[in-house]
Order: sequence, then structure tokens, then C-alpha cells
Amino acid sequence: MIKFPFYNRTQFFGFSLLLSLVFSCTPQKTQTGLVGEKAMVVSAHPLASEVGKEILLQGGNAVDAAIAVHMALAVVYPQAGNLGGGGFMVIREKNGAVHSLDYREKAPLGASRDMYLDEEGNPQPEISQNGHLASGVPGSVDGMVKAHEKFGTLPWSKLINPAILLAEEGYKLTNVEANFLSETSIKLKKYSSIDPIHFTAKEFKKGDVLVQKELAQTLKLIRDNGREGFYSGEVADYLVAEMKRGGGLINHEDLENYESKWREPLTGNYKDYKVITMGPPSGGGIILLQMLGILENHSISKDKYSNYLHLKTEMERRIYADRAEYMADADFYPVPVEQLVADKYLKERFQNFNPEKATPSNEIKAGDIPLESEETTHFSIVDEEGNAVSSTTTLNGNMGSKVLVAGAGFILNNEMDDFSIKPGFPNMFGVLGGEANKVEPKKRMLSSMSPTILEKNGSLYMVVGTPGGSTIPTSVFQVIVNVIEFDMGMHQSVNEKRFHSQWKPDWISYEKGYSDKAILKELGAKGHELNERNAIGKVDAILKREDGTLEAGADSRGMDTAAGY
Ligand code: GLY
Repeated sequence: MIKFPFYNRTQFFGFSLLLSLVFSCTPQKTQTGLVGEKAMVVSAHPLASEVGKEILLQGGNAVDAAIAVHMALAVVYPQAGNLGGGGFMVIREKNGAVHSLDYREKAPLGASRDMYLDEEGNPQPEISQNGHLASGVPGSVDGMVKAHEKFGTLPWSKLINPAILLAEEGYKLTNVEANFLSETSIKLKKYSSIDPIHFTAKEFKKGDVLVQKELAQTLKLIRDNGREGFYSGEVADYLVAEMKRGGGLINHEDLENYESKWREPLTGNYKDYKVITMGPPSGGGIILLQMLGILENHSISKDKYSNYLHLKTEMERRIYADRAEYMADADFYPVPVEQLVADKYLKERFQNFNPEKATPSNEIKAGDIPLESEETTHFSIVDEEGNAVSSTTTLNGNMGSKVLVAGAGFILNNEMDDFSIKPGFPNMFGVLGGEANKVEPKKRMLSSMSPTILEKNGSLYMVVGTPGGSTIPTSVFQVIVNVIEFDMGMHQSVNEKRFHSQWKPDWISYEKGYSDKAILKELGAKGHELNERNAIGKVDAILKREDGTLEAGADSRGMDTAAGY
């Protein structure tokens, strides 16, 4: 039997019990997050954060911890943690060297531009969002292997074992998790070719232990065989058989050919800060640099908060219009990154900004935007040496395509819906997609994920990122602005209510519970339509404070938790 390296069974379940107690209490509102003297992990699940912390305590570096956290999330956070999805990782080494890893999914070889249109040319979002045709070729396992090859210090097996134990022995569900699984596992039954009964046979309740034996076996094959354990052999056979039964496209050739890529991170400056973020195939980093670039030419203050929100919205309108026209996988489409973030361009783009009045989005000319579903997950890690990892990974929608690969126990992404399934046609969220991001074989679909690291005066300053589909870059922007311009700590900055706008629909979304009616009234007076909505993003971030300690910002919108020392 594999031994969970950190807990014996009793300790492990004791820990889970403690967690369920913690989560059944009303959280205490504090203005400061967990502070660590040396190292910190912040992720969407307490067990995954604990796994990361233990890897750091065993002498692993931030990348080792990131791999272990990624694998643990694939078990304990099935809505977005994954083996069957993809993502991006931004790394800053203690010596200041920066790297970014693109393990985004790719369209299968059999994919084509019109694959989601019916005979009359009408888009069929049901099949781009659910079921076997919705999946891109998964990138996560190759990405983790590549990250380990370049930066890993602990043996690969040590990083996978905690996830194996969590899958094999199970973990106790909180009330929120139990309800979530009961509601969404019905969809797994509907879309998987063979009913995954460990998810679907019953209604879950708090305290139930979720065991995932097939997933444990897949993780063992990955532990023992690395990349080959997933992209060939038994697991690949299971995946291809699942595709055949369900009418999907991914075949052995797609799996064998999949490759994640080291890419130059996208970098820019905001005042004294250097911003290190993700470039194409994510549009998120470009959007973030554009917003910070425009902000640098304006002054804002917390006292005039509605002016700041108006300014932010006006940027978002213009920038999200650019996103549709110009952003896509740069391996397939010449994304004009330099031009889009150039100071001169941003000044011109913002020339018609009126500080008193909203510009109707219809007056903003550019292409159209695709909006992604919002279930993704982000984690931030800083190790004792000062190496930092900012990593965002996704299945796209909640439980991705809702297809669980029979025999292999993992859920597949529905990332194909991040392509424009028909250029110019609104997707399921009512927004439009552009030509640059059309479906093409082997192409990566446009993303908004924005794992980001900031330096101040050449030293590590902040590690930040979030899920949230098209709201990702604007959430990262707000958290950065809260810290730098509004003097908030990391915890407070992450837990402030957020706003989002994206050109179309032509409104400002604000989170339920935002209580300053005067600010909303002021925005209304400038001509903005307002739209109350549920949570925007779940930011997990770390701030290096002046005294060298690390303050965690774990988003209380979810179960997000910091573990540090
Ligand atoms: N699927 C979410 C994103 O990539 O932006």
C-alpha cells in the first residue's frame, strides 16, 4: 500500500474532520491573511495547500510543490483540478530568471473550423460545451513532467504519491463539496459513455469519503512512467476507447504528439513594479498589461472610488474589443503583442475617454470577444529560497466536458468551447467570438488565464492569479491595484468585492453583497448600466512584505486556504 507521506490514516481523517468543523463555522473576518516567515502555498483546497507545504518542508522547491499541488487538486477539486485539462505556469527563480510554461490543451487533428455547426450553419454550443467533442487534447501531465525535468529537485514519485493516497483512501467531503458533487455528478452520468458510479450512485452528504480507485491507478501509472503513463499505454487506450464510444475525436496520434511549451513570459512595467505574466495563447497577460499601462497615465484614489471604477470600465470596453480582434494562439495567428501593450497605442486607444460619461459599447469598434466559463483554479507558491510559482489550470467548465474516462477515472476538459465556434456568433454567455480564434487542428484555444508575478525594485513582490474565465485579468488587475494604490494587505485586497466589465454585454457587473449604494449611484449617473452577479473570481495570492514575511491572500469566496511556515 502507498503510504501517505504526511498523515497516517487516523491523522489524515482527523485533519479532514478538523476541516469540516472549520468550514461549518462562520469564518472570522480578519484584515491580514496567514503570515509565513519562510514559505507559503495558497490554493483552492486545504488538502492541496497542505500537500504543497509538506513538499516544501521536505526540501522541495516551489516547482516541486506546484506539481504536487496540481496532482492533489486533480483529486480533491474535480470541478477544475485535473489530469484531463491544461493550464499555464509562470515561474520566477530566486535569481530573478523568469519562465512560463504553456500546457494548454490543443485541438485534435480531426478538428475543423465548422465542427460545431449544423447543416444550416447554426452553432451547436451544446456539443462544444458538453460531451466527447468538447475536449481538447489534455496538456496537464506533459506540463508537469516538463516542469519537473527543468526545475524539479525531489523525485517525481514523491510529488505524485500524496495525490495517489488522496484518491485511493479518499477524503472527507464538507457540506459545500457534498452538495456540489450531488448536483453536478448527475451530468457526469449523462455525458460519460459508462456511468462513473463512484460519483453518481448516491447523493453525497457532509462527512462522506470520496474514493477514486481508477484515478489512483492512473496516477500510479503517471508516477511510474511519467509522460508515457498518460499519453500511451493503458491510460491512452482508455481515453481513446472513451472517445470512440462517445463520438469524440482524440486519438492515439493526438496524445503521442501533444507537447507543452516553454515560452518567453510576457513582461511589462507598472511604476516601480515589473509584471511577469502569461502571453499567448492567453490573452489574459496582454489585457493585464494594457490595463496597467492605461492606469499609469491616470491618478486614482479610494476616496473617488466610482471614478476609478468608471476608468476601469472604460479601459475594459476598449481592451476586450481588442481581445476578440487580435488575440489567439500565436503559433497560428500573428498576435500583435508589442503593439497592443505599447504606451503610444494605449494613449491613442484611450483618447476618447470621458471621465464623466460612459461610452456605449456599440460605439467601440473592434472584433468580438469569446467569454470562457468560470471554473478554473489557481495556486500561488513561494519557497524558502524565494523561488515563486504562479499557476492557473482548468478543465474550462465545471467538471469540463462532464465525461469521465471509464477505466482511467479522470474527467476531460471542454476547452474546445474557448475557440470561437462560429466567428461572430455569441457563445453561451451571450458574447461574441472572432475569426483569429477559429478552430484549427493542433491549435490552442484562446485563454484568459493570467498567472502573474510582480517584482518591486528587482525583488519578488507578489504572486497572483485566479479562475473566472473572462473576468480573470480584471480580477488580477483589481487585486494588484488594491495593494499598490489603495494600501491594502494581501488578504484584504483579495477579499474586497470586485467589479467586471468586458465591452459586451454593455454593463458593469458587481458582486452580490456590495453595499456602497452611493458608488453604484455615481456610476449610474455617468451612464453605466449595472448588473449584480455572483462571485467574481477566486484569487489566491502571496505578498512579500517589507519585513520579508509572506502574507497569504486566500479567497474566502471558496474553500481557498493558505498553508505556510
Ligand atoms: N477556460 C478558461 C480560460 O482558459 O480562460
